[in-house]
Amino acid sequence: MAKERKRPHIETEIVHGIHSSHTTSMDLVPPIHMTSTFKYRNADHSAGVFAGTEEGYTYTRISNPTVDLLQEKVALLEGGEAAIATASGMSAIASVSLSLAKPDDNFISCNSIYGGTFALFNKHLRNFRIEPRFLSPSSCCSKRQILDLIDDNTRFLYIETPANPTLDVIDIAMWKSIAKKHGLPLIVDNTFATPYLQKPLSLGADIVIHSATKYLSGHGDIIGGVIVGTKKMMDHIKKEYIEHFGPVISPFNAWLVLRGIKTLALRMEKHSDNALKIARWLNGHPKVEKVYYPGLESHPCHEIAKRQMRKFGGMLSFEIKGGVKEGKKVMNNVKTCILAVSLGDCETLIQHPSSMTHSTYTAKERESAGITDGLVRISVGIEAADDIIMDLENALS
Ligand SMILES: Cc1ncc(COP(=O)(O)O)c(C=O)c1O
Repeated sequence: MAKERKRPHIETEIVHGIHSSHTTSMDLVPPIHMTSTFKYRNADHSAGVFAGTEEGYTYTRISNPTVDLLQEKVALLEGGEAAIATASGMSAIASVSLSLAKPDDNFISCNSIYGGTFALFNKHLRNFRIEPRFLSPSSCCSKRQILDLIDDNTRFLYIETPANPTLDVIDIAMWKSIAKKHGLPLIVDNTFATPYLQKPLSLGADIVIHSATKYLSGHGDIIGGVIVGTKKMMDHIKKEYIEHFGPVISPFNAWLVLRGIKTLALRMEKHSDNALKIARWLNGHPKVEKVYYPGLESHPCHEIAKRQMRKFGGMLSFEIKGGVKEGKKVMNNVKTCILAVSLGDCETLIQHPSSMTHSTYTAKERESAGITDGLVRISVGIEAADDIIMDLENALS
């Protein structure tokens, strides 16, 4: 007989999850509250809702029933008290950074991260006199080198794991031990892994960020983001930034993310199994110089990945012998794989970081982050792995 558990398995929570419906209509699938404003019975009612003494909504930039459902769902799956859904992954990252740091503050981050995040940190936050202190991939594993960068004006530590596009795996528990010692919040971008494969909050992280554009929604049809953490921290970010800068998600997009999440477990299993098969095949290919996939025993962080992830996800990168010239030939000759940025969709997407997603770096910055010109990134889809392998084989030859 199955043992009784305090909480259902994550696959069950992904499908059922939260039960509050915010309506009395008993729909199985929640309706989309596509409204910018909300009505009141009378002036006392409106005053009570605005004062917070009565239940109700005021305005969709502040809160919305469909958006609330998404927030509750992602908070539940990540094991956080509360969440904030945002217009994009970038607005989630900007909202967290700008609500935690002020002019003359600094923060620590690895330098191999999504190109948009790197540009936000390296250009725009610098314009606000907020200084990013970057570590190269090898330094991200060194406690000493991380500690050396922290001073009285450090406000948070930021990691992305697995990292885009180099697939470095950052040891969340190790970073947490440093964050805790200095009383700093640790922020983890969990976009590549999703809560199905990795739960940063359970490893000590304070805030989890998602580009919901990717695996959470899973179908390449929306842009969205989510921030998860304690209620106190989410209230702070909401009041400090979200409510008045206004980067909120549309209720329709929130609904599409909710719908996408229902198949998250199935999709992440298939993405991960396909990616492992393709990574192993690429690893033995005579035209391939190097494969970056945390599921390969040869990956330098394989042991950390095994410790903190359930499977290894759908993202992989590789270098082709002959560098960028040969890489371009592959991208021009694939048929099943699609030449496009973004990731986490059902379709396999292939792209060239140094001329596409990571063209926000200078050549020198890319070199320091380990993003070579010959690197090709694949977001492995949920097609039959053998068809993707055949497509890559044809393109490589
Ligand atoms: C790891 C990671 N974080 C954040 C983002 C930004 O998300 P969005 O495009 O939804 O703004 C991306 C986009 O590719 C990403 O790959």
